[in-house]
Amino acid sequence: MEQTSKPERIFVLTGAGISAESGIPTFQGTSWRGRSHYELANIDAWNADPALVWEYYSERRRRARDAKPNPAHFALEEFERSHGSSSFFLCTQNVDNLHEAAGSKNLVHIHGQLFETRCAKECGRVGFHDAKEYQAENLPRCSCGALQRPDVVWFGEQPHELDRVFAELQACDVFVGVGTSGNVQPVAGFVAQLKARRKPARTVFVGLERPTNAGYFDEIYLGPATVKLAEALNKLL
Ligand code: APR
Repeated sequence: MEQTSKPERIFVLTGAGISAESGIPTFQGTSWRGRSHYELANIDAWNADPALVWEYYSERRRRARDAKPNPAHFALEEFERSHGSSSFFLCTQNVDNLHEAAGSKNLVHIHGQLFETRCAKECGRVGFHDAKEYQAENLPRCSCGALQRPDVVWFGEQPHELDRVFAELQACDVFVGVGTSGNVQPVAGFVAQLKARRKPARTVFVGLERPTNAGYFDEIYLGPATVKLAEALNKLL
């Protein structure tokens, strides 16, 4: 479906693929000490072995600490600046801070943030910025006595700020998915919801391979996000 007039509101959803070229491994197709990321980023893994989960997140912190935003992160920042933050919304599944590092403003981390730590028992004390690494010998404890955990959303938990995200989704005219496999709910269902609306949104996908929910996208740009995202965004302006 071709749209000729300039879109009013844009909703961008990014996944692990946008940070792959910054050196942060995707979930799909890679593993850590022989375990899948899907298995480790999981509330059951934390309940069974918090030390193992902290070691895993410590290594992710180490990798993400030196990572730099790539041209795909900058393309989104530039698009937001030229289009205006009030009609641009970025929902990222990524826990790294590369969108902020690139300068993106109107942004929600639906799966939390890697460099934040909070009480695992949600005792009421606020979480804090934390780039430290932890092992079995030095697991961090809250002053209430409970363990502290990375402030990320695991499989089996509720994503952050869903009300705001769904409001933005309902309001958008154009949806752009970037570097996401379409396997992780509820996010993978966003594009289907847009196509079920009375006035469906224009839907655009950018990524290395066709996502599981490819059938809901009007336009698919296959290739690295660092190359293809700017091309796809330029066609929207
Ligand atoms: N450019 C564009 N796409 C890429 C690139 C690249 N350079 N490299 C990989 N991809 C694509 C892969 O082909 C894959 O389709 O990015 C996608 C990554 O898929 P996943 O690893 O499943 O990541 P995502 O869709 O974000 O789902 C995992 O679950 O718990 C959450 O927060 C966690 O974001 C994570 C999500």
